[in-house]
Amino acid sequence: IAFFQPKHLAGKRVLLTAGPTFEAIDPVRGITNRSSGRMGYALARACREAGAEVTLVSGPVTLARPHGVVRIDADSALAMHEAVLNHAAQCDVFIAVAAVADYRPQAPAEHKIKKKGSPPTIALTENPDILAEVAALPQPPFCVGFAAESQALGENAEVKRQRKGIPLIVGNLVQESMGSDAATLTLFDEHGRHPLPTGAKIDLARHVVAHIATLLEDR
Ligand code: C5P
Repeated sequence: IAFFQPKHLAGKRVLLTAGPTFEAIDPVRGITNRSSGRMGYALARACREAGAEVTLVSGPVTLARPHGVVRIDADSALAMHEAVLNHAAQCDVFIAVAAVADYRPQAPAEHKIKKKGSPPTIALTENPDILAEVAALPQPPFCVGFAAESQALGENAEVKRQRKGIPLIVGNLVQESMGSDAATLTLFDEHGRHPLPTGAKIDLARHVVAHIATLLEDR
């Protein structure tokens, strides 16, 4: 079956982040989270279908590279930060979907930490906020963020949108979405909130892309 896909983003360059990050404790251990990368990968695919040139900066996931998309692997928040800042000036749209760890071990051990008498203490330090940094560039791309919420989508997502200074944030009910192929999303922009019908991530991704295209036209 062939589906008609409107080329909403023809000629646009889109940069995305997706997946979890892995913050090393030592050569064999680390801190990570349950993000599967599916929403970010679905968005990368939807952007490509819409005619965009797509670069996907991906944390460690088990998903295949979407057709026609350039993928850059970046396991840690710092690696993701570097890859994004290397490409941010050359993109029209930046979509931050990755579940970036807020903290990383301050000084990863060079060798495997041995079991000793008492449990070790792991000192943590804050990771850079990649999305907020890109949004603060002198000529920022159109920035889209995600807000994972465990309760009624609403105030938190809109507050986050304004705090990060971005035109669009996608609120995501995590207990329904994480690791699943379906999700419940609500879009928040300067015009208000736009709930999307619960559905498959690829269908939601196409909705989000159409919404981004409309906002880009209005700019
Ligand atoms: O502040 P919070 O982590 O809830 O914001 C989530 C949004 O910010 C997501 O779009 C996520 O990809 C992005 N983010 C980021 N870098 C971080 C933390 C979050 O780009 N260090």
